[in-house]
Amino acid sequence: DKPRLLVAIPMFAEVLAALAEHFEVDAAGEHPIEDPAELARRAQGCSALLVAGMPRIDAALLDACPTVRAVCSMAVGYNNIDVPACTARGVLVSNAPDVLTETTADFGFALMMATARRIAESEHFLRAGQWTQWRYDLFAGSDVHGATLGILGMGRIGQAIARRGHLGFGMPVIYHNRSRLPAEAEAPIGARWVSKEDLLREADHLVLVVPYSASSHHAIGASELAQMKPTATLTNIARGGVVDDAALAQALRDKRIAAAGLDVFEGEPAVHPDLLTVPNVVLTPHIASASLPTRRAMADLAQRNLLAVFGIGADAGRPPTALNPEVLKPAA
Ligand code: GLV
Ligand code: GLV
Repeated sequence: DKPRLLVAIPMFAEVLAALAEHFEVDAAGEHPIEDPAELARRAQGCSALLVAGMPRIDAALLDACPTVRAVCSMAVGYNNIDVPACTARGVLVSNAPDVLTETTADFGFALMMATARRIAESEHFLRAGQWTQWRYDLFAGSDVHGATLGILGMGRIGQAIARRGHLGFGMPVIYHNRSRLPAEAEAPIGARWVSKEDLLREADHLVLVVPYSASSHHAIGASELAQMKPTATLTNIARGGVVDDAALAQALRDKRIAAAGLDVFEGEPAVHPDLLTVPNVVLTPHIASASLPTRRAMADLAQRNLLAVFGIGADAGRPPTALNPEVLKPAA
């Protein structure tokens, strides 16, 4: 008998077909299964779950579905999964790092540039038929080249953004992170570690790539925004909740910072209504990793982890990007 797999998110048809060779697959179809009761019902009797940055996988779900042995995510961020609860129940968890780093950095840089150069705002103006004359200050924004790039969080994606800014745009790069990069990693991307206060004060364009956790909750709120330059931009491609969206909307309305670019939101896919009414913000629907080849690579990596947990394929028994590989070790 094939083990049962719940694919709780919309998924590439080719990946579903490949999975069906090894699993009895129940696929979400067009909509992710986010309702906890429905998720618990559909996960009954399943050996594995395939997810992304949602739905929420917590102790209550695991206790309701004790047959689940693996939760494999095609996202890099895994704050929707209670990893300690999984580990305590012997459930393997994997995420999908590395394969999305460059694609996500491209998007972070693009969103920062769109924000600095007011690309979305000016496009709406043109479409609305409001372009009737030349003006010296028509959508005049701020420069990206040569400006100081600030990065909060300096994992793989942060370093890939720093490299773009340093090598491509001649930007001085400053960053804040709990742990400092070794000097040999800082030098080629021109990055300098600073305190969070200095990061806020000195950045012309601040990009957030810090994972969400209790300690990064509202890392940028009213008091942090107040320390930034009034000409600065803020770009969030990390997670909703790293920014206090209500405080940001207020700061944008008051022009306490120049503009923001947001790909992630507190409570997404809902968006704070005040953000929808301020003009100086570029809003995108959590698509930073969404190039087709990269989304496919993320799904393939999740699949590799899944197969490995069930002893199939070249990685059998060794899921390549397990977050808690210790659960697979046979008891000594
Ligand atoms: C996207 O946000 C991811 O975590 O992969
Ligand atoms: C997080 O995993 C990152 O790559 O920055």
